Amino acid sequence: MPIIAPSLLAADFLHLEKECMMVNESEAQWLHLDVMDGRFVPNISFGLPVIEMVTKINRKVNDVHLMIVEPEKYVEVFKDAGADVISVHIEACPHLHRNIEQIKNLGLQAGVAVNPHTPVSLLSDIIADIDVVNLMSVNPGFGGQKFIPYTLNKIRELRQMIDDRGLNVKIEIDGGVTVENASEILEAGADVLVVGSTVFRSKNPLETIRRLINTQYA
Ligand code: DX5
Ligand code: ZN
Repeated sequence: MPIIAPSLLAADFLHLEKECMMVNESEAQWLHLDVMDGRFVPNISFGLPVIEMVTKINRKVNDVHLMIVEPEKYVEVFKDAGADVISVHIEACPHLHRNIEQIKNLGLQAGVAVNPHTPVSLLSDIIADIDVVNLMSVNPGFGGQKFIPYTLNKIRELRQMIDDRGLNVKIEIDGGVTVENASEILEAGADVLVVGSTVFRSKNPLETIRRLINTQYA
């Protein structure tokens, strides 16, 4: 069964506590937290003060997606704020191996996020050192965008790379995931589905999460 990671970016920020309690009550295993700096991506989301509060009540895995330049300056404070998984962007890290070591030395799970245009072949060395690949299926910066179809080929290629080497790395798909396209994404080999608008904008978020977890696929 897939891991579902509701993305808080699509939540109602006036009622964050209620939204977090909904996720706690749900079958989702992770909570996805999108941090944007207005430099790596053309948008600014939320940061440490919000994440510190959210992780106090969240009972799921705190999955922090850093869409920021120079993430090494902030990894430690995000750990202190309650992060369990931290993903940094390959495009933002000229010394990616060092970034990964930093995250792992803090006892966290390390993730590498890749933009839609970045080939997964660039991960062929670092893949052995990480826990999660966050494959962006939209251009990072905004929720509610449409899934980019060629991501499916990237998932298959990455699945092959991971399985061929007998690694235990999770493939996380981030952006434009819906109840309708979840089965082809899982069929291609994904393990974790990040879902923002599909969950938080649905009439019955708990039921939507349940449907996503129970997606039928070959
Ligand atoms: C986009 C973020 C995503 C976003 C997904 O930059 O990384 O996590 O919240 O939102 P949806 O599911 O609405 O595409
Ligand atoms: Zn994200």
